[in-house]
Amino acid sequence: MTANPNTSAPASPLAPDWLAVPADLNALHAPMWAAGVARNETGELAIDGIAVSELQRQFGTPLFVMSETDFRARARAFQDAFNEAFADICGGVDVYYAGKSFLCTAVVRWVEEEGLRLDTASGGELAVAARAGIPGAAVALHGNNKSDAEIHRALDMKLGRIVVDSLAELERVAAIAQNRGETAKVMLRLTPGVHAHTHEFIATAHEDQKFGLSMAGDSTDQAGLSAAEEAVAAAAGHDSIELLGLHCHIGSQIFEPDGFALAAEKLLDFLAAMQAKYSIVLPELDLGGGYGIAYTPVDTPRPPAEIAQAMAAVVRAKVAELGITAPRISIEPGRAIVGSSTFTLYEVGTLKTVRVDAPGSGAQNVTYPRRYVSVDGGMSDNARPVLYDADYSAVLASRSSTAAPQLSRVVGKHCESGDIVVRDVYLPEDVAAGDLLAVPGTGAYCWALSSNYNYLARPGVVAVRDGSARLIVRGETEEDLLNRDMGA
Ligand code: LLP
Repeated sequence: MTANPNTSAPASPLAPDWLAVPADLNALHAPMWAAGVARNETGELAIDGIAVSELQRQFGTPLFVMSETDFRARARAFQDAFNEAFADICGGVDVYYAGKSFLCTAVVRWVEEEGLRLDTASGGELAVAARAGIPGAAVALHGNNKSDAEIHRALDMKLGRIVVDSLAELERVAAIAQNRGETAKVMLRLTPGVHAHTHEFIATAHEDQKFGLSMAGDSTDQAGLSAAEEAVAAAAGHDSIELLGLHCHIGSQIFEPDGFALAAEKLLDFLAAMQAKYSIVLPELDLGGGYGIAYTPVDTPRPPAEIAQAMAAVVRAKVAELGITAPRISIEPGRAIVGSSTFTLYEVGTLKTVRVDAPGSGAQNVTYPRRYVSVDGGMSDNARPVLYDADYSAVLASRSSTAAPQLSRVVGKHCESGDIVVRDVYLPEDVAAGDLLAVPGTGAYCWALSSNYNYLARPGVVAVRDGSARLIVRGETEEDLLNRDMGA
């Protein structure tokens, strides 16, 4: 394999500032890829030595290709890093994998085998957990609008925790548990007024969003009593509720530990105040998920140990200041465990180059080329660029190339001009129909958010471990697509 010789190609004026022309288009930026992904001796992308053309032959495209080894390693890395950092504070940390990011029965088993627990957010996710056979004690249920059926299911499965989101829900859980003659294990989800988004966080008095119980003093009709405090008092008064503690989740794709630390401080202050005022013990504190990953070369996530140590330092100091016994800490990472374990494999179809005015070029009428590279999937298997303006990256996967870099836009096959998979990426200018492209970092919230728009069949998911690949979720067939059409 030869390195791309065209290292001095100028950046396209159409490219965003953050996108550099890669020195070598064949190189893989390690933080974006699963362990075991590399180019083989012919220059083709391979995972655990299995070439992508072989994966296409066996399973077709588009295809989610997941490294089971990588998933397990990241799960363990979180568990180990947080256990170590918090060992002296609360004996360790319970890590709940956030199943909403990607869930199937195989993944539940990996999670369980690696010593993690499972965070679910609906009856459907509970059904996957039940089918996989994970003990209910290791499962949490979230949701801002749980149905009675979901609450019954949580009690049927003897869930370790139901994370209650509102006062009304607390009363429903209490009544349902009481009618069943049972006790529900409950955490209260609070909104600490910290909202973190990637590089920054803002702290506001009120969280203008649907989730959780506000900690602001005037958030209920009762003067001076927050919704959070009212819930604590109500929970303490119900025999059918075992109040385990407090929960918060401040956002997603966060790189800096500051937001987590601030939320932890606020919740510990509140926890100490509630313990004193209501003579109760709240033995658990869940600080949610949200740890960021690298989607492009400019994303720089921190290793779990660094985040864990920063959070532990704050919790250690706060607990000492308050003079309380530290609650058992738990966290709920999803994206940071599964996101980088997976790439999506697509086949290239139609190519088209347009000429576009450079931003700010005004009347000079200078245009530059942008290459549209259409692939055989799109917004139905990755809605994140459309939903969140999310940036991704891509490489030519079926071969290496020494052609010059060309600013490209990878688009899907849907009937929408906004159907973009990778907005801006430099690909070799000889990319042609029939080539395979790989988009890394698609393990989280891609398959989970996938749709059948335009009656496309949702792709399968292949897990690779120790040099062999197996389907863990099969791709849909045309028959699946027509199955629910009653024909009437
Ligand atoms: N815990 C709770 C209560 C959550 O709501 C979430 C994510 C997590 C944990 C896991 O967060 P993670 O570690 O994966 O960031 N669809 C969006 C993300 C939505 C996140 C929803 N809640 C996306 O694709 O960026």
